Amino acid sequence: MRGKSKKASGAKELLSKVDPAKLPRHIAIIMDGNGRWARKKLLSRIKGHEKGIDAVRDVVEACREMGIQYLTLYAFSVENWRRPASEVNALMRLLRNYLLKERDNLLKNEIRLKAIGDLDRLPENVRETLFKVIEDTKGGEKMTLILALSYGARWEIVKAALRIARDIKEGKIKEEEVNPDVFSSYLTTAPFPDPDLLIRTSGELRLSNFLLWQLAYTELYITPTLWPDFTKEDLIQAILDYQERERRFGMTSDQISELHAKR
Ligand code: FPP
Repeated sequence: MRGKSKKASGAKELLSKVDPAKLPRHIAIIMDGNGRWARKKLLSRIKGHEKGIDAVRDVVEACREMGIQYLTLYAFSVENWRRPASEVNALMRLLRNYLLKERDNLLKNEIRLKAIGDLDRLPENVRETLFKVIEDTKGGEKMTLILALSYGARWEIVKAALRIARDIKEGKIKEEEVNPDVFSSYLTTAPFPDPDLLIRTSGELRLSNFLLWQLAYTELYITPTLWPDFTKEDLIQAILDYQERERRFGMTSDQISELHAKR
């Protein structure tokens, strides 16, 4: 069997093991390892990011096919601005090209694009393209693709706290009304459910300032695979692993079984 068709049949076989009733509603991914992938191949870091975009395409397509409703990709952190200007510029160029190229595909597949992060810091041409694709795809109801760009969870939490303080001062809400649900509604992720599954590639065991509030009860899946090598099969494997987990949200196993029995 030739490489590609062998891979496709592997994915098909894995897919048949997925329980469609227990799919994660929202998957978030820390796409890490583009630089190491490139170094291993004696290529420039930019080539690693370019190959990373192919993996983005594959994963978006796979999530859409499987019926995942929300996919959040950590594409550029607020800390990434500290990288050499040449790499930042290349990432911005790649991001804009991706948006220009992907627009029609997103429309065709009824995928709605959204973005979270300090978007004002993006170069004007990237911001314009991003807002245009967000506007053009806003009717997409099959899946929501959320790009975290210039995103940092601590930045987001501080911003939410400041907005709550302002609203209390202006009498829009009362201090005693502030609870975790209200707090969530002030975050940039307010329209989306919290992620059920977080995937991190390249084996690093940290959250890197990503969705710190929203990941409170998220199942974590860390794979040594570098992001450019991450395939549809890796994604299915992560989902299968997730489906084996018992999510208790602080309750006991017995309570969870009772809840399931009542449904
Ligand atoms: C981490 O690899 C990856 C990034 C900082 C950027 C991720 C960007 C892409 C996959 C391409 C653009 C994305 C979209 C959605 C168009 P790293 O550079 O930190 O790798 P390293 O840790 O091995 O050096």
